[in-house]
Amino acid sequence: EKGGYETFMLKEIHEQPQAIAETIADRTARGVGVDLGDLGAIDDAFLRDVRRIVVVACGTSYHAGLIGRYAIERWARVPVEMDIASEYRYRDPVVGPYDLVVGISQSGETADTLAAMRLARESGATVLAITNVMGSQVTRDADGVLFTRAGLEIGVAATKTFVAQVAAMYLLALRLAELRGTLPAARLRELIAELKRVPGSVAALLERGDDDVQAIARRHYKAEFFLYLGRHIGLPVALEGALKLKEISYIATDAYAAGEMKHGPIALLDDDTPVVCVATDSPVLEKLISNIQEVRVRGAHVIAVATAGNDELQEHADEIVAVPATDWMLAPLLAVIPLQLLAYRVARLRGLDVDQPRNLAKTVTVE
Ligand code: M6R
Repeated sequence: EKGGYETFMLKEIHEQPQAIAETIADRTARGVGVDLGDLGAIDDAFLRDVRRIVVVACGTSYHAGLIGRYAIERWARVPVEMDIASEYRYRDPVVGPYDLVVGISQSGETADTLAAMRLARESGATVLAITNVMGSQVTRDADGVLFTRAGLEIGVAATKTFVAQVAAMYLLALRLAELRGTLPAARLRELIAELKRVPGSVAALLERGDDDVQAIARRHYKAEFFLYLGRHIGLPVALEGALKLKEISYIATDAYAAGEMKHGPIALLDDDTPVVCVATDSPVLEKLISNIQEVRVRGAHVIAVATAGNDELQEHADEIVAVPATDWMLAPLLAVIPLQLLAYRVARLRGLDVDQPRNLAKTVTVE
């Protein structure tokens, strides 16, 4: 049942090209634009005129939402608010008929996410669910559903469902941009074409093997603390990488917007602290590189995830893992892969059960 892999998590990491491809397949099959299919009560007119989007989710699903926020705001120019579902439900949120509330839940059964969505719906908002499980509770509570098609995920650590959620958020962002005319037609076409190329690039990255990541894991698996840094679209990837590592290896991690370093977290660093930087190409790469320099002069050990072909990081990082180039906004789908593998290899070196980490359940149906 593990298809020849030593764990479900490793199998599921390797199923990511398919998870993305299945999620975008027929939705981008039309010559132009994005077809989200039947979203129930959520029609094109509503999406065209929507004034605000609020995303509620927990854990890894929240990180997928954060990536979606950058895409929706940049491409479709709709303001997006994000909240952790367990916080949202208790903060008496201002939400109403002009809002689209997007609840992201792999399992479709997370108690806090369901409660946040119900609260929004009772206040008059239109609610869209993004889930991987047909017939789950969230599909009954929402006005419309956008399914991710990652297939059943057994490992407690979400991997393939995460990339499928990110792909679904990109589709939503592109559809909104199409309806609202916020992107030139040629740019929209180019982004869709690039998104369709991503599964192939993820497959190439996985086929290359992870000797580089394994070497990094061997060097650092006894560390007591890992810091993760990113900026812009790289920040949610850093957050997700840090969650993966702490969840399955039980190593303390922190993830920060790199620009926040000097406002506190830099005090944590000493000689050899591993600092993982999501440094794929982007308009803020230079800014990130200055943050990396600040870290490095404190003696930290910099591990950078960078875009293949960009040699700029060579002189700034101790170790580099390259990922295939794509449109910079889509890079999270590639950059997250080495971080999942790093968490995986570290946890295995520590002799841990990655599929069933301590204290965690796959589905959190209690508050
Ligand atoms: O099923 P959901 O997407 O609603 O679950 C949310 C979180 O519990 C989940 O993403 C959790 O953080 C994962 N174990 C992370 O790997």
